[in-house]
Amino acid sequence: MEKLVSNWYSVQSLPETYVFPPDQRPGKLIVPLCKTIPVIDLGKAEDHDQSDIVQQILNASQEFGFFQVINHGVSENLVDDTVSLFKEFFNMPDEDKASVYSEDSNKSCKLFTSSLNYANEEFHLWRDNLRHPCHPLEEWMQFWPEKPTRYREVVGTYSAEVRELSLRILQLICEGLGLEQGYFRDELAKCQLLSVNHYPPCPDPSLTLGLHKHCDPNLITILHQGDVCGLQVIKDGQWIGIEPLPNAFVVNIGYQLQIISNGKLKCPEHRAVTNSKEARTTIVTFIYPSLDSVIEPAEELVNECNPPLYRAFQYGEFSSTYTACNGDTETVLEAYKLRV
Ligand code: OGA
Ligand code: NI
Repeated sequence: MEKLVSNWYSVQSLPETYVFPPDQRPGKLIVPLCKTIPVIDLGKAEDHDQSDIVQQILNASQEFGFFQVINHGVSENLVDDTVSLFKEFFNMPDEDKASVYSEDSNKSCKLFTSSLNYANEEFHLWRDNLRHPCHPLEEWMQFWPEKPTRYREVVGTYSAEVRELSLRILQLICEGLGLEQGYFRDELAKCQLLSVNHYPPCPDPSLTLGLHKHCDPNLITILHQGDVCGLQVIKDGQWIGIEPLPNAFVVNIGYQLQIISNGKLKCPEHRAVTNSKEARTTIVTFIYPSLDSVIEPAEELVNECNPPLYRAFQYGEFSSTYTACNGDTETVLEAYKLRV
């Protein structure tokens, strides 16, 4: 418990174990905010512009693997409520956090710091994380935190609404790729994990990271980053910042969508940096397949001119490989690439 960075109110200098090697540090360089990552107005999908929206999503997923959505249908009050609830959670006294704290990766609901590999990792990340599954709600809610008292009610509603949004986005992607109707609806999007990152103010953001460079292992990710900068993506070999926008969600493609689309959609490498002034709390929803789902490039996207780039596998196997490779992008993909 004393390892949680949210408990370190008085630390003046960054402990040695948080200092990353020079080639991984963000440095003092100010990373520009990206003005070109598309902001897609989903409110328009309800009227005639559906095909235009599909095209925007597809283009963004091909070029950046990232886009933001506004007028997404998740109510602003609910989002604000969820944001303040998680701030409250990370500010609770130690004894309240202790009941959720666990270093056991098998526990469904857990609060931990840095990564689940804390004991063996070379450098620690400047973040605490709370995560738990959230679909179906009836199955998982009983394991969720009981404090703050409105936790289950608020997070339950948030999870259900974000699920609706993610299924809607997947349906638009399905259309854009020309896949059979409802391709992602069942097994491929069956599971949902809520992962809340809390990055307290850091004594030296130039030397450390909140999250190191990675691609998300799942199908698609819907992230609420609030109004504090910190999320960065590599574009043409340079890190660029994803601009915090009011009432927006950041969406990114995961490995599984890259593989199913046979490389058409890109899962982007991204990371989170810290800052010295204010805490940053991000609410991340990972949509992912059931463990026994078979993942492979979709039949509709493979032909003589476009041979499959990846072999078929079960999602559970991928998930273990990802953990074993420590999320290293090249090593993970190597295990699934076909030589063509
Ligand atoms: C993640 C992630 C970024 C952020 O949780 O996978 O990339 O800004 N988070 O918290
Ligand atoms: Ni990520």
